[in-house]
Amino acid sequence: MDFLCKLGALALLLCGGLRLGLTTKTPLPVMALSPGGSWIGFDKSMELAVHDINQQEDILADYELQLYINHTNPNEPAKPSSGNADYIIYSNFYDGPDRPMPFLLGSFYSEECAVLCRAVARFNVIQISYGAVSPSLSDRTECPTFYRTVQSATQQNVPRLRLLLKYNWDRVAIIRYSNVVFTSVMESLRDLLRVNNISIVANEMFEDTPSNHIAYLKERDARIIIGLFWDEQGRQVFCEAYKQGLYGARYVWILRGIGYFAPDWAIRPDPAISCTPEEMTLATEGVVITNWHFLPATQDTALTGRTPSNFLATYNEYAGEFSFGDAGSTAYDAVLTAAVVFNKSIERLQLVNKTLEDFTYDDEEMLQVFMEVIDDLYFVGVSGPVSFLTDGDRVGQFKIEQIRGGTAGTVGYFLSHEDRFEWIDEGIYFLNGEPPHDEIRRGDRLVTISTSGFVAICSLCGLGIALACGLLVFNVVMRKQRIIKLSSPNINNLIIMGSLMTYISVILNGLDRDKVGAENMDHVCRAQLWMLALGFTLSFGSMFSKTWRVHSIFMNKKLEKKAVKDYQLVTMVGVFITLESLYLGVWEIRPLVAVLNAYEAQATVEKDLMLIPVVQRCTRHGVTDISWLAGIYIFNGVQLVFGLFLAYETRNVTIPALNDSKNIGMSVYNVFILSCVGAIFSLLMDPLKTETIFLVTSLCVLVSTTTTLLIIFTPKTPRWLQSDDHAERDPAVFVRARAVHCQDNFLAACAKGKQHGYSLPQSSESPLIVLVTALFCEEYIFTDTARSRLLTLYKLEKLSAVTFASFLPLSLGIF
Ligand SMILES: *[C@@H]1O[C@H](CO)[C@@H](O)[C@H](O)[C@H]1NC(C)=O
Ligand SMILES: *[C@@H]1O[C@H](CO)[C@@H](O)[C@H](O)[C@H]1NC(C)=O
Ligand SMILES: *[C@@H]1O[C@H](CO)[C@@H](O)[C@H](O)[C@H]1NC(C)=O
Ligand SMILES: *[C@@H]1O[C@H](CO)[C@@H](O)[C@H](O)[C@H]1NC(C)=O
Ligand SMILES: *[C@@H]1O[C@H](CO)[C@@H](O)[C@H](O)[C@H]1NC(C)=O
Repeated sequence: MDFLCKLGALALLLCGGLRLGLTTKTPLPVMALSPGGSWIGFDKSMELAVHDINQQEDILADYELQLYINHTNPNEPAKPSSGNADYIIYSNFYDGPDRPMPFLLGSFYSEECAVLCRAVARFNVIQISYGAVSPSLSDRTECPTFYRTVQSATQQNVPRLRLLLKYNWDRVAIIRYSNVVFTSVMESLRDLLRVNNISIVANEMFEDTPSNHIAYLKERDARIIIGLFWDEQGRQVFCEAYKQGLYGARYVWILRGIGYFAPDWAIRPDPAISCTPEEMTLATEGVVITNWHFLPATQDTALTGRTPSNFLATYNEYAGEFSFGDAGSTAYDAVLTAAVVFNKSIERLQLVNKTLEDFTYDDEEMLQVFMEVIDDLYFVGVSGPVSFLTDGDRVGQFKIEQIRGGTAGTVGYFLSHEDRFEWIDEGIYFLNGEPPHDEIRRGDRLVTISTSGFVAICSLCGLGIALACGLLVFNVVMRKQRIIKLSSPNINNLIIMGSLMTYISVILNGLDRDKVGAENMDHVCRAQLWMLALGFTLSFGSMFSKTWRVHSIFMNKKLEKKAVKDYQLVTMVGVFITLESLYLGVWEIRPLVAVLNAYEAQATVEKDLMLIPVVQRCTRHGVTDISWLAGIYIFNGVQLVFGLFLAYETRNVTIPALNDSKNIGMSVYNVFILSCVGAIFSLLMDPLKTETIFLVTSLCVLVSTTTTLLIIFTPKTPRWLQSDDHAERDPAVFVRARAVHCQDNFLAACAKGKQHGYSLPQSSESPLIVLVTALFCEEYIFTDTARSRLLTLYKLEKLSAVTFASFLPLSLGIF
């Protein structure tokens, strides 16, 4: 007994001594609210903080922090009880501890805080919540003195935005559950996205079942979807997303802090959904969550000397089964905030002759001092660096989680103070290995000519070029041969040169940017145009001039007219070429360039790639095709039509001597018809059938050019093969040559004829016949057959004029 008494006395003494020691410190009471009951884990955390502060020498050295905790809903702590919270606060204000208390820590619930924050402000008390995340509490007109050590739900929009910017997603959809918190978060997110030029393709809110809303997201082709809902609605959303296929490598879901206490929320059994855990695992694979982060991974020491892990261990031990684990850190830091503000205010209050214990519920001045201090506050707590935005929101850290195999795991952090991510290993992983696109990607597919088609046409062109070169060599080597000499080899060489250019233009036409490189395409465009236009004018102009010569000989009523000479024909062709070159040259002010025309309507969509066919075209910037092509069409069209006219007029000139003209006439028809086919075909054909157009137009040009060469030159060869002697002795052959190429004046020819004893035809006869007679200059072979044929020609000539008159409008209509 004695011993016990002594022990009791010692204890009393000790206690008394302690009390004595403590009484030297001024008590500093702080109100706190917590749900209570089985949720007294928050009380424990705050008690631990008060203990730590009171232990600390360099903070509130002359004071002792005292905590007055009241419980809002001890019987049902998982439910907010605003009425009770309100009642407690007013009780404290009016009949609470004798000393007024400038700080209220709590409460946990947003609903309670929303009710309290106004009343608290009226009593000049600062409220620091450790659990309320509702964005509406940041409204400074509603809650002027509200602060929180947990980030508001809108704060998560910052890491969300940073993620979008990081992966260049500028097209997102938002889906949220019908709740005022999510609406505020959405509104702040919407404004944030707008400023950053990120478009919202769908903004859906659901109440019962999200199926229609998910369907709409799909319809809008949303790829990056921000989801604002709790676990329960989350399961519904992802079950629906599974059914509608809104998951997998092409989609990224970014959720709000969800499943904080249940990382496997998605695969938890839920009778409300019809999806199996396997399906839910599939649907939520890769889902990104911006979640609250209560204990930093960095082991920075808080001002009470605790590191995050040290705090967790001590807290778990102290709170036992009531521990909230890392989520206890915000309540701890709420106490630290109050303590640091107190400590920092001491000096400032001295300036106005006040001390901390002078506080009363109507002291606005002290509230101002506290608010100024708290707005500038920065200290390290166990939940990381603590500071507040002007609206009372905590600047803190978030963790970035990603669901893999149904369970969320941390992949990185967002450090708000530094506005940057810190990734663990690779950070966010993507099913495809790379971030998906925020919409269907658009790709161009250059519509080109297949190699086989190009090679085939090139081979044909090669053959044509070989033929043209062969004929050119033949003409040059054999130029001394009489028959060649008489066939106007110079004009024929021009035809060959023109054909060569035409063949080359066909090859150029088949080139594209894949074959020669985009940078060379402009030159190819120009070369092709010049080659084709000048090649056509050269060969067709030459044929035209020859036909014109025949025509002028036959249709000229003036007997004195001198026969047209070769050099005159060459001049004529030269004029054509000059005119055409001038026209093209003037247009070079705005040169042809290669452009790509996209045909979006014909695009093919494959998964998330839309392939838009692109066709390469040559065009002039700012100039419509028709305005400059019109000149080419008119110039060459007139040549063509006039050539046709001449050929038609001389079509019945079947006198042996004029067989050549018939050949030329055939060529003119041939070119005319094929040009028309080519032009019409390329105009009417679907431009995407590039290869078909290329093949058909190339074949048109090839066939017309090659047949022209063959028709004009082939008949000469067999004759040349015959002996020269024979040719000279055959009057028909000789006359034929002379007739077309006669260089003599009519009268001179007649005089020559007279020397040979031939008489002139009767003057009563048609001048045409007289003219033709004159053509047989030297030899004056004037047989009965020839005579009767000429009479037929004369009659037919009148007929042809009528026929042609009706044909002309038709052929002009084609252009
Ligand atoms: C508390 O205030 C004292 C005196 O102003 C100061 O020396 C000390 O560093 C403060 N403590 C903290 C943690 O800010
Ligand atoms: C609040 O708690 C204190 C003790 O900390 C107690 O005296 C007071 O009655 C409580 N207030 C209410 C309204 O329960
Ligand atoms: C958004 O677009 C506007 C106009 O195009 C531009 O002025 C502004 O700088 C852009 N803002 C951002 C953040 O890119
Ligand atoms: C504070 O008190 C001192 C002495 O009591 C006095 O001289 C001074 O004017 C006071 N300052 C203010 C701001 O009231
Ligand atoms: C030229 O005309 C004559 C008579 O009609 C004919 O016999 C001959 O075959 C023709 N020559 C050519 C190359 O067409």
